[in-house]
Amino acid sequence: MSLLEWKEEFSVGVTEFDGQHKVLIDLINKLHDAMRAGVGRQALSDILSELVEYTKTHFENEEKLFLQYSYPESPAHRREHDALTKQVLEFQKEYHDGRTSISIDVMDFLKDWLVNHIAISDKKYTHFFNEKGIR
Ligand SMILES: [Fe+2]
Ligand SMILES: [Fe+2]
Repeated sequence: MSLLEWKEEFSVGVTEFDGQHKVLIDLINKLHDAMRAGVGRQALSDILSELVEYTKTHFENEEKLFLQYSYPESPAHRREHDALTKQVLEFQKEYHDGRTSISIDVMDFLKDWLVNHIAISDKKYTHFFNEKGIR
């Protein structure tokens, strides 16, 4: 069973970003399944890299739109993106150095962070962008 499933209530009202959130959920599930299947370190490391890269791309895409439309909540929102990016990059480095492993706690952290960020911070931009005609 998947760790996390996308539901309609996760919709942020911007099709492009809903699509990207679905990919992020798929990648978190992929990492979780690989962890549970006990695949090797290299395989896990590859999926982790995929997740990190896609997360960065997604954050950049949101931030690009914030900038383009002078979204007023952008600074606080960007701080959340930056904090998660920093944490995940540190984790990735520790994992690479063999100082940590991918555990259910790590998976729960990623899942909870993503769900909370989408449901609280991302959803704050729905009305703003919809009013600009972006859906
Ligand atoms: Fe965001
Ligand atoms: Fe997002």
